[in-house]
Amino acid sequence: MSLYQVQQMGNEQQEDSNEENEVGVKVTRMSDVSVHSEADSCWMVVNDNVYDITQFLREHPGGEDVLLEHGGRDATEPFKEVAHSEDASTTLQRFFIGILHEDDRINKTKKPKTY
Ligand code: HEM
Repeated sequence: MSLYQVQQMGNEQQEDSNEENEVGVKVTRMSDVSVHSEADSCWMVVNDNVYDITQFLREHPGGEDVLLEHGGRDATEPFKEVAHSEDASTTLQRFFIGILHEDDRINKTKKPKTY
C-alpha cells in the first residue's frame, strides 16, 4: 500500500487527536508536533507526513541548526527550496512516524508524496 493510500485511510478517521487509523498509522495534530521542537525530541512535517528526526540532527549534511529552526513545524517549503536530492527523500522515510491530521495540512491541494 502506498503512503498516499495510508493517508486517505487516515483521513476517514480524524475525530480525535492522535488516533491510529486501521492500518496502525498515527494521525497527528500540528499542536502535538509543535511541542517536539528541541534537540532532545525533534519532529518535523514534510509533505503532510510527520517525522521524528531527533536521531538525524547530527547526521544532517546541512547541519543541525537548520533542522532545529524548523523543529516542531511544517518544513515542506524549506525542504523543497534546498532542492534536496532523491537520497534526502529516501533518508526521510526512515524517520516517518505518522501522518498529519487533515485539518492541519497546508499542502492539501497537492497529492502527498508517495513512497
Ligand atoms: C528531515 C528532513 C531532512 C533530511 C532527511 C535532509 C537531508 C539532507 C541530505 C541527505 C543532504 C545532502 C544533500 C542531498 O542529498 O540533497 C542535505 C543537505 C542540506 N540540507 Fe537537508 N534535510 C532535511 C531537512 C532540511 C531542512 C528543513 C533544511 C532547511 C532549510 C535543510 C537544509 C539543507 C542544506 C542547506 C543542505 C546543503 C548542505 C551543503 O551542501 O552544504 N535540510 N539534507
